[in-house]
Amino acid sequence: MPQNAPRLEIRNLTRTFEGKTVVDDVSLSILPGHVTCLLGPSGCGKSTTLRMIAGVDMQSTGEIYVDGKLVCDTIFRVPPERRSIGLMFQDFALFPHLSVAQNVAFGLKGDKSENRERVEQLLDRVGLLHYIDAFPHELSGGEQQRVALARALAPRPRVMLMDEPFSGLDNRLRDGIRDETLSLLKEEGTSVLLVTHEPEEAMRMADEIALMRDGRIVQRGAPYNIYNAPADKAAVAFFSDINVLSGTVQGALTETPFGQFLAPGVPDGGRVDIVFRPQHVSIDFDRQGRGPNPTSLQGTPARGVVERARFMGSESLVEFRMDHDMQVLRATVPNVFLPKVGTPMWLSIRRDRCFVFPSDE
Ligand SMILES: Nc1ncnc2c1ncn2[C@@H]1O[C@H](COP(=O)(O)OP(=O)(O)O)[C@@H](O)[C@H]1O
Ligand SMILES: [Mg+2]
Repeated sequence: MPQNAPRLEIRNLTRTFEGKTVVDDVSLSILPGHVTCLLGPSGCGKSTTLRMIAGVDMQSTGEIYVDGKLVCDTIFRVPPERRSIGLMFQDFALFPHLSVAQNVAFGLKGDKSENRERVEQLLDRVGLLHYIDAFPHELSGGEQQRVALARALAPRPRVMLMDEPFSGLDNRLRDGIRDETLSLLKEEGTSVLLVTHEPEEAMRMADEIALMRDGRIVQRGAPYNIYNAPADKAAVAFFSDINVLSGTVQGALTETPFGQFLAPGVPDGGRVDIVFRPQHVSIDFDRQGRGPNPTSLQGTPARGVVERARFMGSESLVEFRMDHDMQVLRATVPNVFLPKVGTPMWLSIRRDRCFVFPSDE
């Protein structure tokens, strides 16, 4: 098997429930030791995809391969326990009547003393060796989560499937457990498909993000690329608040109060959306009705008045009603910036952070 052959590969997976297609022609592959996050809003088909790969549900069409070997198509089917796939779900119940050691050893076959060694190794690795003879109810939520991870990893699965595994933990614990989990999975060389509806979680965990919507994968790429070269308006909006300017194209250009924007490939008269994030808006004070001079990076400034300003913790969010069309645009500013309502100010947009898409209306 070549070094860079995918550990998990799914091809054209589709699942239909009573005539409704909830997973629609999904293909993915994950290299050994890599983490792919399937990211999308609730109901878009993430869990259904994972359930088919695990073998607890069966696809309507498509194939699943582990290490290049067919695990399931519409005729042939390896049972879930023989797929070398580990599972970790949000309601990862440990067996309450078994000790921590027995829980972790649950999926292990073969030699008792070897199993004990593996159990001790994993519990040590997650910092819970002193709890080896404890029972689940004696552990905190975060500790139980780490035991569940050790249990899933004990049989050395080739692939680990995780469905919103951290969403039951409180915020304070979550970051630490995410990072710990990730480094353990990397050490073990397991390939991971992690499902989440939280963009921050995907950005934090993923080597690659597969953005899913209405049963389809709309974009795949490294977190940096998905964030900075989104496929469409909804892909921008999934990661942050957005501002949208609408315009009409003439000669591959759109005129706006913030200057001209390129709209290559859009025919004359076509409508476009110019989409940008609040953190890419900069703000200047009004000097006797004038704003800053236009620059190639910032374009032309446009004037608005403060409608609302809120402190959000690490940044402030300011809303402006624009003079030219009364539209509201949002800007975020690091730290505390709370101008009075009604203050006139000039907004400029980072030109290189604007995305121009054909309008979807
Ligand atoms: N067994 C089932 N029977 C009918 N519809 C289902 C079944 N399982 C899931 N669905 C539907 O499939 C869609 C996708 O569900 P799911 O994969 O759980 O989404 P996600 O995990 O992204 O929130 C939903 O509309 C859900 O109601
Ligand atoms: Mg789900």
